Amino acid sequence: MREFGFDSTTAEVIAGQDLSGRVALVTGASAGLGVETARTLAGAGATVWLLARDRAKLDTTLATLQAESLPGRLESALLDLADLDQVRTAAAQLLDTCPRIDLLVNNAGVMACPHAETAQGFEMQLGTNHVGHFLFTGLLLPALKAAAAEGREARVVNLSSAGHRFSAFDFEDPNYRQRPYDKWQAYGQSKTANVLFSVALDARTRDSGVRAFAVHPGAISTELGRHMDSDDMARIAASFPGGKMAFKSIPQGAATSVWAATAPELEGRGGLYLEDCHVADLADADSSGGVQPWAVDPAAAERLWLLSERWVYGGEA
Ligand SMILES: NC(=O)c1ccc[n+]([C@@H]2O[C@H](COP(=O)([O-])OP(=O)(O)OC[C@H]3O[C@@H](n4cnc5c(N)ncnc54)[C@H](OP(=O)(O)O)[C@@H]3O)[C@@H](O)[C@H]2O)c1
Repeated sequence: MREFGFDSTTAEVIAGQDLSGRVALVTGASAGLGVETARTLAGAGATVWLLARDRAKLDTTLATLQAESLPGRLESALLDLADLDQVRTAAAQLLDTCPRIDLLVNNAGVMACPHAETAQGFEMQLGTNHVGHFLFTGLLLPALKAAAAEGREARVVNLSSAGHRFSAFDFEDPNYRQRPYDKWQAYGQSKTANVLFSVALDARTRDSGVRAFAVHPGAISTELGRHMDSDDMARIAASFPGGKMAFKSIPQGAATSVWAATAPELEGRGGLYLEDCHVADLADADSSGGVQPWAVDPAAAERLWLLSERWVYGGEA
C-alpha cells in the first residue's frame, strides 16, 4: 500500500505508473504547479496538452519541457478562461484533435486580484477559476466519456485551495454587484465553487466512468502571489496554526494534483477534496486543514451547477 503525505513529491507519486497512450490536458500550464503537473504526466508517457492564455509564456514552457526529452508527447494551445468565447473556440479545436481525453487538470487560477470583470462580466476570480473551467469541462465531456468508455476511468482534477474556508458560495450576490468587493472573500468563494463543481460533476458523470476531484496543493511560492502585499502575507500566515505557514516546494505542491489524476488508490471514488495526497477530513470552523462542510454540500453543489449552466449556456452573467 502506497503512503503519501505533506512532503511527498510528484516523482514519488508517479513512480511505477505508465501513462503511455493516455491524453492529459493541463490548464494554466505556463507557470507554477501547472508546469510541474504537465512535466510529471509527460514524464510517465502521457501525451500532454499545455494550455495557457499567454502565447509567449506558453512557447517558453513548451520549449523548456521539450528540452527535457520526456517520453510523452507535448502539445500546446491557447486557453483564456476569462473569455467564454475563447473557451468555446479552444474546446472546439481540442475536440477536433483529441477525440479521447483521459485526464483534465483544471489548474489555472488567479488569486486576490484587484476588482475586475471577465469578458462576459463575471467577477474575475469567480469567472476565471470557476465559470471558465465549468464551460471548458462541459464542452470536453464527450471526449472524457469516450476515454472512459474504453474501460479506464477518466478523471477531472479541479485545483481548489484551503482558501475555500474564507467564504461559502454567495448565491445572492456571487459577482459582487450589491456588496463591496473583498479580494480574499472572492478568492475563497471561487475556491469553494471549485469543490462544489467537483461534487456535482462527479455525481453526474460517475456512471459513465468520469470521476472528479478537488485538490488543495498546499502553500507554494509561485506567481499566484503576484497581487499580494506584506499585509496580505501577514494576514494569511496568521490564519495558520502558530501563525506560521508551512511551505511546500513546487514538486511537493503538484504532488496532490498528480495523485488525484493518477492514483490507483482512488479508483472507483470521486467527488472528494484532497490535500497532502490523501482524502481530507471535514474541517471544523477553526481548522486550517480539511474541507469546510459548505464546500461539499450536495444541495449547494447542485444549485451552483444549475446557476453555472444558466451562465454559460443561457448567456446570463
Ligand atoms: N501556490 C499556492 O500556494 C496555491 C495554494 C492553494 C491553491 N493553489 C491553486 O493552484 C492553482 C495553480 O496555482 P499556481 O500556484 O501554480 O499559480 P501561478 O504560478 O500563478 O499559475 C497560474 C496559472 O494560471 C494561469 N491563468 C491565470 N488566469 C488565466 C486565464 N484567464 N486563462 C488561462 N490561464 C490563466 C496563469 O497564466 P499566466 O502565466 O498568463 O498568468 C498561470 O499559468 C491555482 O488554481 C491556485 O488557486 C495554489
